[in-house]
Formats: sequence, C-alpha cells, structure tokens
Amino acid sequence: MIIHRQCQGEAINQSINDCFESERGIPLKVISVVGARPNFMKVAPVHSAFLEAGFDALLVHTGQHYDEKMSQVFFDQLGMPRPDVNLHVGSGSHAVQTARVMEAFEKVVQAEQPDVVLVAGDVNSTIACALVSTKLGVKVAHLEAGLRSYDRAMPEEINRVLTDQISDVLLTPSADGDENLAKEGIESSRVVRVGNAMIDSLLTHLEHARSLNFLESHALESRGYGLLTLHRPSNVDVKEVLEPLLEALCECAKRLPIVFPAHPRTRKQLTAFGLWEKVENTQQLKVVEPLGYLEFLALQSDAKVVMTDSGGIQEETTALGVPCLTIRENTERPITITEGTNTLVGVNPENLLKAFDDIMENGGKTGQVPEFWDGKTAQRVVKAIREL
Ligand code: UD1
Repeated sequence: MIIHRQCQGEAINQSINDCFESERGIPLKVISVVGARPNFMKVAPVHSAFLEAGFDALLVHTGQHYDEKMSQVFFDQLGMPRPDVNLHVGSGSHAVQTARVMEAFEKVVQAEQPDVVLVAGDVNSTIACALVSTKLGVKVAHLEAGLRSYDRAMPEEINRVLTDQISDVLLTPSADGDENLAKEGIESSRVVRVGNAMIDSLLTHLEHARSLNFLESHALESRGYGLLTLHRPSNVDVKEVLEPLLEALCECAKRLPIVFPAHPRTRKQLTAFGLWEKVENTQQLKVVEPLGYLEFLALQSDAKVVMTDSGGIQEETTALGVPCLTIRENTERPITITEGTNTLVGVNPENLLKAFDDIMENGGKTGQVPEFWDGKTAQRVVKAIREL
C-alpha cells in the first residue's frame, strides 16, 4: 500500500505502529469477512490480532450461515465481537447466494473505504467478497490460500482457485499451498506462508473446552467413542452414495458408540431419502444437533476415531493427534495425510469399514503437527498485511 511504501522510504525511525497510519493520520483499515461455520475459527484470532496491532478492524458477517447453532454459538465461544455489519444473505442456490453477498458487500466497501479486505477459506462468501473488493480497487488478503483438491466438481475448489487468482496476498497454511500456487503461475512475491489460523483457535481454547465435562454430559468415555460429521453435497445429496455410506456407519456403530452432530443439509437429505428413521433407530449412533465449537473440540480431542468429509476437521484431528478417516475421494489438505493422522478412505463402504476396523485393532495413525501450526499464525498474518 502507498502507506507502507512511504513508511519504508521515509520514516525509518518511526515505530512499526506508526507505519499503519495513513496520510490522513488514521490507522490502516481492514475488513475481515466471515460467512459460514468454517470461517469463524480461522478469522477469530486474526481479527483479534488486527485489533491488538492497532488496525481499524471491522468484522463483516455475510449471514451465509445463520442458525444459532451454525453461527452465533461460535461468536460466543470464540470470544469474537459482534459483527460490525451483518448482511443476512441466508441460503440460496450458489448463484443467488454469491450474488446477494456481492450486492450487499459492495455497499459496505463503498461506505467504509477499507485499505484491505481479508477473506478466509473457500466458501461462497469468500469469492463473493474478494471479487467485490478487487473490482473496487481494494487490496484482498486470502487466508488459507493455495489449497487444491483438483476436483472441479467441488464448489469450494472453484472458490479457492478464483479467490487466489484475484487476491493480492495469498496467506498459505503449508508448503503444498505454495507449490500449488506456483503451478498456477502466481508470483511468489504474492505468497506468504503463515501457517494455520484455525490451529491458533484450537490451541487457545483446548484446555478450557476439555475442562467443561462434555464427555460426562454425553455419557462417553475417553477413547471409547467415534465422532462423525458428513455434509458434502457429493456425499449427502445423492441417495445412491448416502445410503450405502449410512449402512457402513451403522456397522461401525455396532463396534463403537458414534456421536453424529448432523449438519442441516444432511438432516434434510436423510429425511428426504427416507433414511432418517434408520439413523434414529440405530443403537449407538447418537445423532445430535450441530455442536458448539468448544463441545466439538472437546469431543474430537478424546475420540478414538473421527470420521468426516469436512476440510477443517482433517486439520484439527492432525493437530490433536487423533486418527481421522476422511470420507472423500480427494483432499485439498494432503499434509494431514503425509504428516498427520488422516487417512483418505473414499466413499466405498467396504474401505471405510476396513479402515475403521484397523483403528479398532491397531489404534490408527500417529502423526506429527506440520510446521507453523503453532498458534502464532495470526501474528504472521498481521506482519504480512503490514508488508502488503
Ligand atoms: C458451506 C460451505 C462449505 C462448508 C460448510 C460448513 C460453500 C460453497 N459451502 O456448505 O464449504 O464446509 O458450509 O458447514 O460455501 N442451512 C441451515 N442453517 C444454516 C446454514 C445453512 O439450515 O445456518 C441449510 C441451508 O438452508 C441449505 C444447507 O444448509 O439448505 C446448505 O447451506 P449452505 O451454506 O448453502 O452450504 P453448506 O452445505 O453449509
């Protein structure tokens, strides 16, 4: 930014914070965007670090996720301030949702005139706000840049590729992200490896989460249960995929109690396919409402195995050292397999059962925590924004 270039050239003796004062003598203005559940734990530590660094930091919630259990509870538990603006876009087709965010966010950017907009992850709100900002000439920082599943049937993959192309600074969580961006011809000067902001949240809240006795309230014993989440459209929107998966999961539940916080999309689809009754009637498959951040974190940390098609949970289990079976054909987070505790089992029910049995018998993969997943990512983001 002009502001920073001036600082470097002319005011070498100024304190670092002075460098964030613009020509008008006001602090650097940054809008951080959150929209859907996986954004909250990534942006919470970064927004808080922006405030601590003296930035004029605003938080905008697009309202893509709006249920108390999909949104508000995360603000409460992560200690995030109420959003300065909520766009209340709600649900819709991809085009409708993206367009609604764009229309509403453009007004915010025009009114607030930020220096930088920070978007996170790969949800529809991410691409929508990046596109609006760049067209208005505002710098865009993309947190969790560079991840690729190389599966263009995934809406998130489209969001990732496009957001990275138009962002000014690409904040990557791991070396594979840097490599993917280089393959797409993105100059290395735009890429900064900052690590994984979600792990900042995890490390901040783990002890507190574990002290709240959630295991007791669910009548569970440490390492005596599995945890399941499932919500990818490719898994839950097609009966021919979902039904056999459910059969396999019910088999798993015969061997180990399984807690299943059901995403609204999944609940809706199971009901539509006439499978909800089976879920409710399977002993030891304990279906619950989507859980708050602390409760889910506590349950993850003590689980024997986590089964999921989520992106973030693959990373959280790696940070926690808990075996994870990912029910997908690909992952944009390969480091959780090469270094962490994750195994990709695909959507074939037999593979899932085999991998599950292996964990029951042999305890599953141990792993190591990747570089920069150390709780200090938000600080590195602040530094990168200063240097933008
Ligand atoms: C979105 C993200 C996905 C992320 C997931 C986490 C995109 C393209 N997808 O998928 O990357 O992993 O969030 O949850 O952005 N719904 C509710 N209440 C809510 C939110 C949604 O009932 O608070 C319902 C909607 O009405 C809709 C369904 O859930 O029918 C899907 O919501 P949507 O935001 O479109 O996508 P997700 O599947 O949640």
